[in-house]
Amino acid sequence: MANRILTLNQISVRGLDRLPRESYEIASEFSHPEAILLRSHKLQPADIADSVLAIARAGAGVNNIPVEECTRRGIPVFNTPGANANAVKELVAAGLLLGSRGIVAGSEYVHTLGEFTDKGELNKTLEANKKRFKGNELHGKTLGVVGLGAIGSLVAEMALTLGMEVVGYDPALSVDAAWRLPSEVRKAEALSSLFARCDYVTLHLPVLDSTRGLVNAELLSAMQPHACLLNFAREEIVDEASLIQALDAGQLRKYIADFPTPALIGRDDVILTPHIGASTDEAEDNCAVMAADQLRDFLENGNIRNS
Ligand code: MLT
Repeated sequence: MANRILTLNQISVRGLDRLPRESYEIASEFSHPEAILLRSHKLQPADIADSVLAIARAGAGVNNIPVEECTRRGIPVFNTPGANANAVKELVAAGLLLGSRGIVAGSEYVHTLGEFTDKGELNKTLEANKKRFKGNELHGKTLGVVGLGAIGSLVAEMALTLGMEVVGYDPALSVDAAWRLPSEVRKAEALSSLFARCDYVTLHLPVLDSTRGLVNAELLSAMQPHACLLNFAREEIVDEASLIQALDAGQLRKYIADFPTPALIGRDDVILTPHIGASTDEAEDNCAVMAADQLRDFLENGNIRNS
């Protein structure tokens, strides 16, 4: 009998094609599926039927899955570390540029100039105003990368190519990951020293009990007033009340994050994108292929792998 795979989000066809139709039925509704394949759908314990043998997330974080409940029930949970790392790295590159140049404010300003029909008048007005959008270069600045896994290590490499100095911190850095890092990446001894010395700090950690609220009032107050904090990882890693206080007090210049946090909407010192770090065709294909292969290998051979 074919294995039934319940898909709770739209999964790329490239991934679904890894599950041959003679052996797999795939649908967005099944009462007794053997496996669940999802992206960001928030899965509740009650959603996991007794028939479920495995769950696969086409994405890196598993904070939308009740992992403890799955462990209790002996259900393996697969994720796809690294499969969307390049997409996130590229958005972090954009985040660094958004933090250093007047791109967002400059574009908003240009869009207000619709009343000009005369090109000469338009250029005169632009010339008179453009100093408001002056920025600084990334070259020669220092980037602190907190978390040096698949994404953090790619971000570190990318920043070096922009001529930035890179300082890394990861209390859980494996020997393999350390070996993969370019030798130019310097190691910070403590998180507080990284926050204190860097012009930009970017977070690449999963959300765990140990990382929730990790960026707190103390770390934020160590930042330099011209520094920018980038969070393309998870909203919960930064303590929201402390962040608002720090921004109000001018303890950092900008917060650039990939989450639509309501309390930050409308602030000039915040740039927010709608959790699009992994939203590229390529990343969606990579994640779906890896997740489908993991499920297939488990259902057909009993293998458990996270790559
Ligand atoms: C991930 O966990 O892979 C990213 O945050 C993207 C996503 O949630 O889809």
